[in-house]
Amino acid sequence: MSEEQSITYTAQAGGHLTGQIRVPGDKSISHRSIMLGSLSQGRMTISGFLQGEDSLATLKAFRAMGVNIDGPDEQGKVIIEGVGMHGLSAPDEPLDLGNSGTSMRLLTGLLSAQGFDITLAGDHSLSSRPMKRVTDPVMQMGADIETNKGGTAPLKIHSDENTRLTGIDYTLPMASAQVKSCVLLAGLYAQGQTCVTEPAPTRDHTERMLQGFGYVLDIKKLDAQSSQICLQGGGQLTACDIDVPSDISSAAFFMVGASISQGSDITLKHVGINPTRIGVINILQQMGADISLSNEKEIGGEPVADIRIRYAQLKGIHIPEDQVPLAIDEFPAISIAAACAEGQTVLSGAEELRVKESDRIQAMIDGMNILGIDCEGTKDGMIINGGEFTSGTVDSLGDHRIAMSFAMAALKAKGAITIKDCANVNTSFPDFIGLAQSCGLQVISKVDV
Ligand code: S3P
Repeated sequence: MSEEQSITYTAQAGGHLTGQIRVPGDKSISHRSIMLGSLSQGRMTISGFLQGEDSLATLKAFRAMGVNIDGPDEQGKVIIEGVGMHGLSAPDEPLDLGNSGTSMRLLTGLLSAQGFDITLAGDHSLSSRPMKRVTDPVMQMGADIETNKGGTAPLKIHSDENTRLTGIDYTLPMASAQVKSCVLLAGLYAQGQTCVTEPAPTRDHTERMLQGFGYVLDIKKLDAQSSQICLQGGGQLTACDIDVPSDISSAAFFMVGASISQGSDITLKHVGINPTRIGVINILQQMGADISLSNEKEIGGEPVADIRIRYAQLKGIHIPEDQVPLAIDEFPAISIAAACAEGQTVLSGAEELRVKESDRIQAMIDGMNILGIDCEGTKDGMIINGGEFTSGTVDSLGDHRIAMSFAMAALKAKGAITIKDCANVNTSFPDFIGLAQSCGLQVISKVDV
């Protein structure tokens, strides 16, 4: 995969972002559309599927388990002949899920009682990320899973015709949509009822899509923050077409880039604005960003809109902790906005950032320190004092979101920014460079020899 080829970005200082662009399809929805489409009864079509390495890893995994999947074509159209809940077959080899935490964590639940043994493997970064958070609840349901010492991948799932899962009532120890989805997907195969209680709202694409495929869920709000999702095992999924909106997590780089560079005025078309994903809009607006939504509509159970962002002087804030799960993937980009804001920005309650594709707190602090910003990491967040980026070379640590965030920083820097180890941008944002160039970022990508 992309780890084999080393890529460096160089972004020239200055410029601004203009025009109307459509960023690629939502990664979370793309993964789930392959999973539920494969398990459904009948043929379904996905449009706008993200052709990034992560969602393609999920697609290839289901092909390897015998599902007939056509595409994606250039427009991101995928056609799946669903095999039904019990139609998957054992793959010949371990499933290679590359860099994709979502594939591994959701598949752990979905594949824990298929009646065949299966191994889930990943690249260096994925093999060091915590997996006990998913193997623990699924093993409580009756699954048999071996992990490496320390609870990491590869995950060896043992299952035969005698494997039986039993529904549980599980309270998430952290606000994680991946863990919630893993338990719910295992619950489809469990006897009786499976319930998941989440301490704070996390992305609810699994729940929305299950309901779109005709599965009955019982969702109760317990208080202002927490809710409980329950389902009965043993049901069926009915094929249903999916139109994948653009990914707000990819849009976030352009939202930040436009907010920090004078003269910017950019519109991001058809972006998913699911309320569990719009923390980045709420936080940037609180910092003084000029963001407006138009063309709001609902497509296949997910709200979408065009988002217009114009330059505005930002100010530092204490980021409300209730926004953290709603912006969990956007903090690398938001920290670039904070570095360009007047005053101090404080992020807390975000310890999950330390176990993403990289330790995103450390990666951003190290890079911003190199670029002359006064900032420090804390156990669960960052303190960033607004300043001015100098020229310099930073390391993305192979993390796509760190790479794209530092590319945007160049719009407000005194000199060029070089970013190392950028190949994994392909996991979520193929042609980031082409699209960013087309709207004004002077960035180039070079294969290291
Ligand atoms: C995702 C959930 C989030 C997010 C990840 C995608 C998903 O992870 O960071 O990029 O599709 O469910 P956590 O559930 O670990 O917070």
